[in-house]
Amino acid sequence: MNVGDTEIVVSVMQQEGYVYTDNIEEADVILINTCSIRDNAEQRIWGRLTDLKRYRRAKPGLVIGIIGCMAERLKEKLVEGPYGVDIVSGPDAYRDLPRLVRGAEAGGKGINVLLSTEETYAEIAPVRLDRNGVSAFVAIMRGCNNFCSYCVVPYTRGRERSRDPQTIVSEARTLFENGYREVTLLGQNVNSYKAGDVGFPELMQRVAAISPLLRVRFATSHPKDISDGLLEVMASMPNICRAIHLPAQSGSTSMLGRMNRKYTREWYLDRVAAIRRYLPDCGITTDLIAGFSGETEEEHAQTLSLMREVGYDFAFMFKYSERPGTYAEKHLPDDVPDEVKSQRLSEIIALQNELGHASNLRDVDSEFEVLVEGTSKRDKNQLSGRTSQNKVVVFDRGGHNVGDYVRVRITGCTPATLFGEEIV
Ligand code: 5AD
Ligand code: SF4
Repeated sequence: MNVGDTEIVVSVMQQEGYVYTDNIEEADVILINTCSIRDNAEQRIWGRLTDLKRYRRAKPGLVIGIIGCMAERLKEKLVEGPYGVDIVSGPDAYRDLPRLVRGAEAGGKGINVLLSTEETYAEIAPVRLDRNGVSAFVAIMRGCNNFCSYCVVPYTRGRERSRDPQTIVSEARTLFENGYREVTLLGQNVNSYKAGDVGFPELMQRVAAISPLLRVRFATSHPKDISDGLLEVMASMPNICRAIHLPAQSGSTSMLGRMNRKYTREWYLDRVAAIRRYLPDCGITTDLIAGFSGETEEEHAQTLSLMREVGYDFAFMFKYSERPGTYAEKHLPDDVPDEVKSQRLSEIIALQNELGHASNLRDVDSEFEVLVEGTSKRDKNQLSGRTSQNKVVVFDRGGHNVGDYVRVRITGCTPATLFGEEIV
């Protein structure tokens, strides 16, 4: 989401005559797009601000801005601190950045952290910063209304709102016409997409109808509303990728209750069964949190057992980090000792390594259509791309280029990568 937002920010700045550079030495304005989801994400930004002091010394007129969730959370505290931040802009204030930057260039400080119920940046054409020219992000909705008790996102990104479907379809079509072969539709909770009478399944159908050669992915789904209707649409269109990221957070119903996730373990497993029924070859990935408030050994064991039962292909795994202003910070003590959190997280990671490797081993000898994304980092005679299930495959270049679809048979794997050969 932040990569997508950065592309919008670059577009807004370019319209006002600013030019993007990826060489920091050259920059007159440095905007740092930030995340507040866990404390360590914010700590990295403090570290970055310390590093930037030397650029400031070298170029006294340098403008430094903090944008995104950390800006929204800390507001004027960022300008008042010792780091010399000139601009603070929340995620709904990016249209105002050129004005804020001009003010800072004139020696002032600028803050805009107003959240909006409408802003979707619908008609702003993002400036694509990725270099492969094959896959792109398209934001379809912003904000979150779920208020999971541990999560800061509803406070930093505001209420849910959906972008007009026509602008989404036309952005995706333009990408396809410019050679892109994959779009990922983005939102904090894409299944809540609703614009007039267009819901998420219909939007998916419209985007996937642009061309059978355009792969469509989406992230992220909330388990409480991953519907059979959506799974039916996916099953009917082979270019909608067989990959669903379905954050479980925990495998314990009592814990899910404290997390305010609005589903039970049984509900979650029922949705996984529905995915397997409609899309037998679908990859399923997840997010898990270790050591949330009051987590017992039994609840932790339930998370491990859920992981085994689903057999996740991949997972993002985190230690609980208490976030100021959330329901949990106010009402649910952060009472699992850090060593216990670390121990549980390492058990979760060890199990996921096993499950991920087993998932890769199951693919050996199978055939997949791979969309080529780039040259392999290790060997320029090899290409790397992804299967519909979102797994990376490395294989000999043959006569192929970035953006080609290649049918590949998997010949071997490591825990993280599949190796294959082209089927001719
Ligand atoms: N501590 C740890 N992980 C968190 N996440 C969200 N909030 C927190 C927190 N306070 C994780 C969830 C979410 C992912 C994006 O980040 O797993 O799905
Ligand atoms: Fe945070 Fe929950 Fe919203 Fe995801 S669904 S962004 S975890 S509040």
